[in-house]
This record gives sequence, structure tokens and C-alpha cells, in this order.
Amino acid sequence: MRITLNVHRQAGPSAPGHMETYQLDDVTPDMSFLEMLDVLNENLQDDGQEPIAFDSDCREGICGTCGMVINGQPHGPEVTTTCQLHMRSFRDGDTITVEPWRADAFPVLRDLVVDRTAFDRIIQAGGFISVNTGSAPEAHSVPVPKPQADRAFEAATCIGCGACVAACPNAAGMLFMGAKVTHLGELPQGQPERWSRVIDMVKAHDAEGFGGCTNIGECAAACPKEIPLDVISQLNADYRKARSKVKD
Ligand code: SF4
Ligand code: FES
Repeated sequence: MRITLNVHRQAGPSAPGHMETYQLDDVTPDMSFLEMLDVLNENLQDDGQEPIAFDSDCREGICGTCGMVINGQPHGPEVTTTCQLHMRSFRDGDTITVEPWRADAFPVLRDLVVDRTAFDRIIQAGGFISVNTGSAPEAHSVPVPKPQADRAFEAATCIGCGACVAACPNAAGMLFMGAKVTHLGELPQGQPERWSRVIDMVKAHDAEGFGGCTNIGECAAACPKEIPLDVISQLNADYRKARSKVKD
């Protein structure tokens, strides 16, 4: 396949960004999108040019490290992560535009790499449970009804990639936050900190500069783990209840 790439290049956080055009003539349909960028980077290095900086780790769709906007869509045209996107999703002769996540809370560090530590700070604010250490509890000692277990598991599949923020016109982090609040709030182990968790996470979310949800739904459409939009309803319901229970 012959592919033309328009790629956002930016030397550093305060450097101006610009688009660069590259040509690749030896792309195969079975290459992943990141393998295609690896080939481009090898070509650039052979020519003495700076390779394109991008994030990746597991390359198996589980760590949430990869992420770029491909032809205007976070993670590209399929419901999957960038690392699990394959070149068979494109056609010979295509021109593909590749940009970093765009959100004030995710500043560009270099080329396609953004700083997503704002998500870590939201988790530090409340995305945890406190348990006493000791030997592992007996697996059946805390029964969890199946519907709650299923809902918690579905929400727990959020990998923290940030595509929901990149897709949202308000750059809201509410699908991500809703997934965490739903995951822990459905389980008995998450109950003791349920109300302080949601207050603290929302406070951290707003302080990081994420926007608010206006029910557009682009987040759920872009999510590679198909986190449902109704986790935001659960977040809002918990937040309303928490406001009456917890003093700031
Ligand atoms: S909710 Fe989906 S898009 Fe958002 S961070 Fe989690 S996995 Fe990524
Ligand atoms: S590199 Fe881990 S999800 Fe893509």
C-alpha cells in the first residue's frame, strides 16, 4: 500500500506545532498503525531526521498508553486502541492525518505525545479503596450480586487512554471519571469512601481544566472499551447524593 501521512510535529511543549507530510510505499494491510509509524521512523532515522515521538507500551489494547487523533477521530476509524488499529482499515493511496489529543488538560509534550498526568491526579484524589493489609481474603467472603459485578467489571475495563477527552468538544473527562466512580461504587469494597470519592474526583477534574459534560456523547462513541454513556449519569447521581452527605 502507498500511504501519505500528514503528521503534527512539535519540538517541545512551548514550540509551535506544524504539519509535515511523509510518503510510505511499503505498507502492508497486516501492519498495525504503530508498526507503520515504526517503519516511517526507521526511514527518518536513516535519513538523519528526527523520528516522530509517540506513546505506546503494551501494544495489546490494555495499557491505555497509545493514543492519537487519526483523520479527526481519536484512535482512528475502528472501535479499538491505536495500537490495535491495522492498516487494512485504510486503502491504498489514502492520505492520513495524525494529530495528538487536543485538550487544555493534556498539553502536548512533543509531536504526538501529550501529558496525561491530569488523569493520574484525578485517580490520586479518589480513585481507590482503602483496605487493611494482611492475607488475601477468602474469595467468597464478600458476596457481590451478579448485576453489580457485571456493571463494575464493564466500568473497570476503562484503560485511561483519554480518547473520551480528545473526542469531547468540551474536553470533559467525565466518561473516564464516571467509569472509575461506577466501578468502585458498585462494589461493597468501594462503599466506605463512595461519597468523598466522587466529591474529591470532581474537584480534581475541574481543577485540571477539563470541561463539563453537555450530553453530546462523542466520548462513548470514541471509547475503545465501549464504556457506556450512562456511567456519567451514575457519576452525576452519586455527586448529587454526596453533596448532601459530605461537607467540603
Ligand atoms: S472511558 Fe474509554 S476513552 Fe475514556 S479513558 Fe476510559 S477507555 Fe479511554
Ligand atoms: S499501547 Fe497499550 S493500549 Fe495501546
